[in-house]
Amino acid sequence: MPVTAVIGTQWGDEGKGKIVDLLAQDADMVIRFNGGNNAGHTIENEHTKDMPEGVAKLHIVPAGVFNSKTLNVIGAGTAVHIPTLAREISELRSGGLSVDNLIISKKAHLVMPWHVLLDEAEELKRSPRNKIGTTKRGMGPVFSAKHARKGFRAGDLLKADFRDRFFDQYNEYELMLQILYRHWDIPNPSSMYREFMEYAEQIRGLIHNAENEIDAYLNGGSNILLEGAQAVLLDIDHGTYPFCTSSACTIAAASQGSGIPANRIDERIGVVKAYSTRVGPGAFPTRLEGAMDNKLREWGREYGATTGRPRACGWLDLPLLSYANRLNDFTSIAVTKIDILDNLQQFYVGVGYKNCSEHEQVVCEDASCGLEEDSQAALRLVDGWNSDITGVTKYSRLPKKARAYVRSIEDAMSTKARFISVGPHRDQTIVR
Ligand code: GDP
Ligand code: IMO
Ligand code: MG
Repeated sequence: MPVTAVIGTQWGDEGKGKIVDLLAQDADMVIRFNGGNNAGHTIENEHTKDMPEGVAKLHIVPAGVFNSKTLNVIGAGTAVHIPTLAREISELRSGGLSVDNLIISKKAHLVMPWHVLLDEAEELKRSPRNKIGTTKRGMGPVFSAKHARKGFRAGDLLKADFRDRFFDQYNEYELMLQILYRHWDIPNPSSMYREFMEYAEQIRGLIHNAENEIDAYLNGGSNILLEGAQAVLLDIDHGTYPFCTSSACTIAAASQGSGIPANRIDERIGVVKAYSTRVGPGAFPTRLEGAMDNKLREWGREYGATTGRPRACGWLDLPLLSYANRLNDFTSIAVTKIDILDNLQQFYVGVGYKNCSEHEQVVCEDASCGLEEDSQAALRLVDGWNSDITGVTKYSRLPKKARAYVRSIEDAMSTKARFISVGPHRDQTIVR
């Protein structure tokens, strides 16, 4: 594998966590390279049996944490909410995991308490049609602060002026929250600082010059996995702006957010859910309404791992998958949750967009039109396999029609599906 990056190709929640956990069995190092605790990566394996609902929901801890031989790095491109991280580690420990194999890059940004307050206040102030539907985890404000070069990084926690900077910035954000957003209910700075530092003390020992370790692993020929959060269509530049997240989510971000040179990333795996989901507003050409939407949501348990919000469901969108491939040139794909379509005699895939005014075509296949908010998909009917595939372990044993469906995704993305996931458990994966 030497260096393999795994990213989502749709609007998130494709099953990246599951695929990273699977691959991490052979990884010496796993690096989370973007986003923050807006992510929710659900893992089910032999180590999660005694955890709530038999799964682990990771928000910031990399999914290599179940392999005690893997060094897990929270990379430079991430934003870390320290209380969430501290709680996550303690929950994993309660579930029987040691979590001794984790470090945080000094360069990772910190989600400060006021970033969370501001995310909430900004979202509240937006008019209904402009609401982004953020996870309210402070992502917009923390990445804004990073780019304005006034952010706090993990390494700053170790510096003598941290306390002074904390209070200075508290004052700045307090003013902003009060004057611009009429938000008065802000905890006082001393109690905010005390609480922040209580959590910070718990994770202080994890803060490292992680890039030196990454370099040593890289040049020692180790297997390194780069774990993406969110997904291509939520990318800040190439996603459905402004209904997207505030960090980059592509393979390019895997390089930037880990510090690994782009040309050293050998494998680029795109995770494709066999249908589409999206949390929050924005373009969704194949979006379903009514009974079918509900069925996919119930069968696929499509509720956000971070906020618990119901995910809107729809069919697969082939031109948008082709767009994801265009941006990332995947070396292979992982098709997940194909078992969720088991009960359907027939279903649909999106093959283009209807009534495209830009190209004056009845059906337009230009993915950029699919990124427009009001776009609607032109659909093609697909024959289902209508049988239970959750126990299938070999590709050749998949029903012919399931293989044909996988092939149509491969054709759209000009990429081979090396992994086909037929259930949430690590073992329910066909590897080709
Ligand atoms: P991520 O954010 O991309 O890691 O994905 P999430 O964990 O948010 O959402 C994926 C959900 O689908 C989780 O509950 C997984 O346990 C589950 N899952 C992953 N792969 C499969 C699969 O092949 N079949 C089924 N039925 N569930 C899956
Ligand atoms: P994983 O890694 C699904 C969505 C939010 C919202 C938009 C902006 O689990 O796939 P933000 O809080 O980032 O400012 O919210 O992005 N979003 C996700 N949707 N999966 C995620 O992560 C997401 N992270 C952010 O719902 O629409
Ligand atoms: Mg998720």
